Amino acid sequence: MKSKTDVRERDARVTQLFEQLVEIEQRLIPTGLHVFGNALELEEKTDLLRMVASFDRPEHGVRALPTLVAEGLGIDSYDVVLQEPATSETKELIDGITSEAIRRFCEGDADSAADWLHSRLNVDRQQSLPVFLLLQRIADQLDSNHEMDALMRALRGEYIEPGPGADIVQNPLVLPTGRNTHAVNPYSVPSAAAFARAKQTADALLRRYFDEHGRYPRALALVLWGLDNIKTQGEGVAQALWLLGVRPLRDALNRATEIEVISLEELQRPRIDVVMTVSGIFRDLFAPTMGLLDKAVRRVATLDEASDVNYVRQNVTQKIEVDGCGFDDAVTRVFSNAPGNYGTNVNFMVMDSQWENAAALGDLFVTRKCFAYTRDSGGRTIEGREAPRLMGDALSRVEATYQNIDSFEVGITDVDHYFEYLGGVSKAVETRSKSRPAIYLSDSLSPQTKIRSLEETIRLETRAKTLNPKWYEGMLKHGFRGVAEIENHVANTFGWSATADAVDPWIYTDIAETFLLDSKMFERLRELNPHSVRSLAKRLLEANGRGFWNPDEEILERLRDIMLAFQDHIQVTA
Ligand code: BEZ
Ligand code: MG
Repeated sequence: MKSKTDVRERDARVTQLFEQLVEIEQRLIPTGLHVFGNALELEEKTDLLRMVASFDRPEHGVRALPTLVAEGLGIDSYDVVLQEPATSETKELIDGITSEAIRRFCEGDADSAADWLHSRLNVDRQQSLPVFLLLQRIADQLDSNHEMDALMRALRGEYIEPGPGADIVQNPLVLPTGRNTHAVNPYSVPSAAAFARAKQTADALLRRYFDEHGRYPRALALVLWGLDNIKTQGEGVAQALWLLGVRPLRDALNRATEIEVISLEELQRPRIDVVMTVSGIFRDLFAPTMGLLDKAVRRVATLDEASDVNYVRQNVTQKIEVDGCGFDDAVTRVFSNAPGNYGTNVNFMVMDSQWENAAALGDLFVTRKCFAYTRDSGGRTIEGREAPRLMGDALSRVEATYQNIDSFEVGITDVDHYFEYLGGVSKAVETRSKSRPAIYLSDSLSPQTKIRSLEETIRLETRAKTLNPKWYEGMLKHGFRGVAEIENHVANTFGWSATADAVDPWIYTDIAETFLLDSKMFERLRELNPHSVRSLAKRLLEANGRGFWNPDEEILERLRDIMLAFQDHIQVTA
């Protein structure tokens, strides 16, 4: 007989498992590549509209549809429901009614959807109609795609209308596509909305670290990208400021050029030291913001506060004492490439298998990204002084690394840039601090801010995309290119082994079984793209050779056979 505790533990485990399955099932994924000039299919359009409708949009005078549904059900706060587990019946009910309303909108129109919600839940039409009218405008713009026409006009040297660059869900004003994407005014970053969201996300990040370690991290390394900060009006920048315990202040021209210190009473936690590794695109687009971040660190380092509530001051003081260096060196925290340079090259080194040991990947990251953007003791701006020792020192105190994810379209195994940056900096920290940092990512796109460890994110991405038939069948519709996308995903997943040893071995086993050991699938891939099939086998063998995966010898034999057979095939047909 099972004891009561056994049964309770089992039930808790089953519930946890169920929640994980629901999380994978509900994850929004692109089910195919965008074909230039083509409009979205109905199903994708419905999913996208549901996402758009799940956020408050004060700028359009529109409230989130799930909130209106919750109110119709007599629930006061949808935010409280959002914190409940994915299995919550209330949440399911709200999601179900919201989806049904969107379906009715897609099949009918704004009026019929608002009427249905009114008759079903007595939701005020005055409240719901603006949501559906916004969806109507977006749906129309999604249907009328001007990409090809705009390209032809651009090739003729004609004028292309400008439009903002963002994620459609973050800012539907990016539609219609086929316009000349423009960025933001860097002085407006971070916006008030970005700061409000950043507080939630950064607090969730600190809570997660605290739950796992029993204390706050003394220093964090953040990755800041340009396009992401355009899309979110500076959410990553705002997260860095909030972690330091400051907020931006606007000058007479409404430019965010000054810093206001947030009191420790308001903060209710220590000020966290942050090392910012900034992409070349960010550096080019956000020069004033680089200055703002540098100013913020300097200001926090000089606050008259005890070191156990101000880790910036603690670390800066310690560095000056131990190294005998000056304040300007000790306080340097904003690093990027040399002026005119971009990227870490860690991705190229991994893709070409050109690395002997993982430490070399972290070293390469520092070599490329160790250029300090700061000021000298006379207050003069320094734009990119090579400072590998300063960066190495700052990284040696880091206990957690982090990157904000703000798009459902591009995840950490879709492109090689996430592992080159977040993986690269994590490896650099590991070798310099002599301990692997905790590595986190946010999911700030969903209404419910979520922080996941790198390992959790890789599992989720693998289940939701790489191993999900809906995802890979969507890719395979694109033939040769689709197989190359599958291969890319596997290579990018491998990038997380190389830089952070963060990939569970079952992931490689399942990839091998799904794409190469299943004879039907193998034949399909071979027909479409033998080059990628060979690369896939080679990458899996590399995962084994470098000690990230240790499958049965039979599997390895088969992979070797594939590689050899395809070498001949490609040579003969080339
Ligand atoms: C950026 O937006 O800063 C960025 C984009 C792609 C790769 C790396 C950085
Ligand atoms: Mg690129």
